[in-house]
Amino acid sequence: MRICLIPGDGIGQEVVPEAWRVITALIPNIESVDADAGWGTFERTGISLPPETVATLKSCDGAIFGAVSSPSTKVEGYRSPIVLMRRELNLYANIRPLKQGDIDMVVVRENTEGLYAGRERMENDDTAITERVITRQASARIAKMAGEIAMSRSQRVTVVHKANVVRVSDGLFREAALQALSEFPELSIEEQLVDSMAYRMVREPEAFDVVVAPNLYGDILSDLGAGLTGGLGLAPSANVADDFVVAEPVHGSAPDIEGQGKANPLATIRAAALMLSRLGHAETSARILTAVESVIADGPHTPDLGGTASTSQVTDAVLEQLGCSPDPKTQETSR
Ligand code: NAI
Ligand code: MG
Repeated sequence: MRICLIPGDGIGQEVVPEAWRVITALIPNIESVDADAGWGTFERTGISLPPETVATLKSCDGAIFGAVSSPSTKVEGYRSPIVLMRRELNLYANIRPLKQGDIDMVVVRENTEGLYAGRERMENDDTAITERVITRQASARIAKMAGEIAMSRSQRVTVVHKANVVRVSDGLFREAALQALSEFPELSIEEQLVDSMAYRMVREPEAFDVVVAPNLYGDILSDLGAGLTGGLGLAPSANVADDFVVAEPVHGSAPDIEGQGKANPLATIRAAALMLSRLGHAETSARILTAVESVIADGPHTPDLGGTASTSQVTDAVLEQLGCSPDPKTQETSR
């Protein structure tokens, strides 16, 4: 198995090697290949996701993507490497598990269209128009993935939309999703309007299991969920295609703490575990997630969780929970 490592910018450079340290401790013969993307790459080469990186990705089974910085104003020629990568590899689902205390849910977000389809224009100097693209095919595909995930969990799916107001495009999302989920007679399906979904996620997050939503709604609800479950330092995601998976922490490049050894590596370690489970290493994945949970419960913690530990000390604690030596040269598992 070969994994492409794309640390990117800022703390991406610090957390990706930590996740890799955990993986190689458990799967010693796994191969890695490094690739570039992000703002630093754009400044060096004029392209945020170089063709060599795309070629490397396509030669691998999966990837771990750290984070990238993006300019806050429009920069000529710059395009988000994450958006480009999703398109190149057809990573049509963004999966974000949310787990803490009574909360144990998964947000399954459509990743290719909706308001992020990139169809924007100025009508005149004072009017901007963004088109929202919803297709039956992409809506059905994301709902099917939510259904499959729910089959391995408590078998409940919530379809999020706003079809009472955005009648045409959310109406199609709703119709296609419910149709696709009707192929899973074992599942219990509910619908929720996105605004009341946000309210209920704060008031009774334990009521939800698998949540499926169009792109923008899913993006917002998954960050809301990250806020409810320990913050950005802990929140993992997986960008999924039928034959590929890119693990990615939800957080960005965190320039405010870059280079200080303070970044929490647990989001990326969790994301790497999600990747492994989709690549047929379900047991190893579950072991990593359990080890991460005990480090969240008992420490040591990086400053974002109120502790004083460094990035690598937190990874060392995960390795210790796994029964591995933190020194990569003398690693061994004791099970
Ligand atoms: P951010 O996620 O980088 O940071 C937000 C806050 O959370 C900061 O105070 C940061 O120190 C903290 N934080 C984030 N991850 C952490 C971790 N692992 N451990 C400890 N603290 C952590 O979001 P921000 O500041 O809005 O954006 C910074 C840059 O990252 C921007 O250029 C933005 O465009 C980019 N970005 C990239 C993303 C990606 O690559 N997927 C996602 C979000 C932002
Ligand atoms: Mg987001």
